[in-house]
Amino acid sequence: MTKKFFLILFCFLSVNLFAQQKPDNLFPQRIVLNLTPEPATSIAVTWRSLSEVYNPIVQIAESTQWINFKQKVTEINASKESFITDKSQEVFHYSAVIKNLLPNTVYVYRVGSDSIWSEWNQFTTADSKNTPFKFVYLGDPQNDIMEYCSRVFRAAFKNAGDADFWLFGGDLVSEPYDDLWGEFFYSAGFIFRVTPLIATSGNHDHLFIDADGKIKKSKVISDRWLTHFTLPENGPEDFKETTYYIDYQGVRFVIINTNDKVEEQSKWLDNLLSNNPNKWTIVTFHHPIYSSTSERDDKRTRNFLQPIFDKYSVDLVLTGHDHTYSRSKKILNGNAVADNEKGTVYVVSVSGPKAYPLGNRYNDLFVKTGEKVQLYQVIEVNDNKINYKSYTVNGQLYDSFELTK
Ligand SMILES: [Fe+2]
Repeated sequence: MTKKFFLILFCFLSVNLFAQQKPDNLFPQRIVLNLTPEPATSIAVTWRSLSEVYNPIVQIAESTQWINFKQKVTEINASKESFITDKSQEVFHYSAVIKNLLPNTVYVYRVGSDSIWSEWNQFTTADSKNTPFKFVYLGDPQNDIMEYCSRVFRAAFKNAGDADFWLFGGDLVSEPYDDLWGEFFYSAGFIFRVTPLIATSGNHDHLFIDADGKIKKSKVISDRWLTHFTLPENGPEDFKETTYYIDYQGVRFVIINTNDKVEEQSKWLDNLLSNNPNKWTIVTFHHPIYSSTSERDDKRTRNFLQPIFDKYSVDLVLTGHDHTYSRSKKILNGNAVADNEKGTVYVVSVSGPKAYPLGNRYNDLFVKTGEKVQLYQVIEVNDNKINYKSYTVNGQLYDSFELTK
């Protein structure tokens, strides 16, 4: 009788323990879509769990008006990577690049394994034609992300929920702590599950924690960046997932890692832009050429990148790092030119709460500057027009301009 009682009690506790622990530890976290170099026919998805999932899978189907899409699901095995966090916790990151998709098509997907799945989410592949689209650009979130960036991300999503993707200008988190990455994903909620993310890496994305627990600078991208994202690898060999390009519906987006070897990368950029069939070119990197703070003046990006922007008439350069806002006139060879001439517009923006004082070194070149403001940009591309709008977190149109071609 006693034996039987304890056996039943053991089974009851085991079932309950299993029921309580399994979802928490195996449930997919930090799910993010990333654009690939073939955005009309493929997409990357990355996620993690606290305990190891032995057979991580992405299920995907064309979306249907009811749940019968489940009858046509394709399963893709994801790759797996074990990672030890700064709290000495082993976690597991999974990623898959889903290929052979149809352009301009709504897909439904979920991630997980045989027994535990995320919710079904939807995304739309890029069009294979130069159809008009919009994207969101955000400068550095970096600090107190959960506390202060949540409202920026959510305001941007409410304003432009139909944006095709979000582009970040670097310094996603201030230090490479797992909790801060957790804040980044918490603040975005479901947004990155339905709107692909691309990003350039800032100086804070190049930090690591040494054996003594101290934060150190590195020329190499943080392993947290590489585990959390699956970004393109079509740039220079040393800059996989940090320097790359994507041709998106008539725009060549070039993302450059300006933390190291800028001169070397400028040769890659020169070659890349010498063969560019797109009508528009937008370049993003972290360190501004025309700094809007007084302390900074980045000669590397100006000396090595700007001549190439001039040579190929890059339309728009989106940067961060300065924790202020500035938008330049059209610039060619370091001088302002008329709106109807060839030239490049340079933007510095910030989404997070950290604020530096404005400088005045390049005031002659700027149309608009600002400090102590959290912003997001909604940028629409419509064949012969780029329509740029910068909004404050509390909903005011802060700056806008159009480029026509
Ligand atoms: Fe920075």
